[in-house]
Amino acid sequence: MISVDLSRTGTAADPELKEQILSIADDLFEGGQEMADWVGWPALVDQALVEEIRETAEYYRNKCSLFIVCGIGGSYLGAKAVIDIIGHQEGSPEVVFAGNSLCGEYHESVLRKMHSNITCLCVISKSGGTLEPTIAYQVFKQEMEKVYGEEELKKRICVITGPQASPLRVEAEERGFRIFEIPEGIGGRYSVLTPVGLLPIAVAGVDIGELVNGAVALSSRRYWAEEGFRYAAARFELMKTKTIEIFEYFSPRMVHLGEWLKQLCGESEGKEGKGIFPVSLLLSTDLHSMGQYLQEGRQIFFETVFDVEQWPDDIHIPDYEDGQAGGMTMNEVNRCVCESMILAHSKADIPIAVIRVPQADEYHVGQLIYFFEMTVAITGSLMGVDPFNQPGVEKYKQELKQLLAQKNRRA
Ligand code: PA5
Repeated sequence: MISVDLSRTGTAADPELKEQILSIADDLFEGGQEMADWVGWPALVDQALVEEIRETAEYYRNKCSLFIVCGIGGSYLGAKAVIDIIGHQEGSPEVVFAGNSLCGEYHESVLRKMHSNITCLCVISKSGGTLEPTIAYQVFKQEMEKVYGEEELKKRICVITGPQASPLRVEAEERGFRIFEIPEGIGGRYSVLTPVGLLPIAVAGVDIGELVNGAVALSSRRYWAEEGFRYAAARFELMKTKTIEIFEYFSPRMVHLGEWLKQLCGESEGKEGKGIFPVSLLLSTDLHSMGQYLQEGRQIFFETVFDVEQWPDDIHIPDYEDGQAGGMTMNEVNRCVCESMILAHSKADIPIAVIRVPQADEYHVGQLIYFFEMTVAITGSLMGVDPFNQPGVEKYKQELKQLLAQKNRRA
């Protein structure tokens, strides 16, 4: 099981806050909140659906060497985070994410990849109308239309979308593309364990059954009453004096977990003038850029450190002259860096929560996903905001619509 060490946060368990958290958790478990169907989803997820996703993934794994996924925000970050941590399994197609920016150079490089690969394409958009993935999907779909006939396209294109009749869904139905439905009551950033995350993750050869099992292990009232509530309570206390939460990890394979966490916290809590500003740092890399600020700069932050106890691969460091680390493994030294950083920052009175992860495998990553979804839903509710909407995101989209209408010479 993942565990949380709060001994260096300077927070104390407040029984009243615990009661409040338990009542929020009960409400979530009992389905008392809109857009919270993800709470019971891992336990309820139909084995038949997991099997169907596995079989579909197997089909694409055999059919292509390049699997392009177009999606943005909650429609790609979770899958990217899981695939990066676990790694593409041998013999899997390369899973490439696109439509999460409008960088022409990047998308041109994916197009070039298509020319030397056999491609399948998956577009993920709950609304079916988000600009960035729609543009990328059109670019890659039209490229595939040049190469494959209509019958073959049906076998190569998969659409993961919400139940409403968007242009994306309507076209997919008309042309007979494979469709997976995103449940209405699950929003983007809470959707990793639905087809949104599970299909690309399974195409990369990752065990989605174990991922879901990990989430199930934490999806009980008992866990939240005995253990889970503690980090949510500490975060809520720390938010009263700190404005930034820094997620820190010690492997480049966790960078996208940090990106997923930033979206989960930022979109769920940052509203009505409230919210902690989430950032993430890759260590020890960033100890040589941000380490000075962390140790001696303005104390406006607290840290949440991921201590992964075991990675599947490691490397021995040879003996070398005056070498303090000779004979150890690299991961052993990495964990020493983590421990010494925690000691140094604690001495500067920086609050630090440590999330201990026994192993970087599917089961524990599944636990991390559910743990943070639930934590953020709880802290958002404690703050009095709706953790499941994102009204602010629409504002720039309205401006963009007007701007495109002015600038697009063809409109
Ligand atoms: O969490 C969310 O709801 C958002 O981040 C969405 O996932 C993101 O905006 C993409 O939306 P859609 O899946 O509708 O294209």
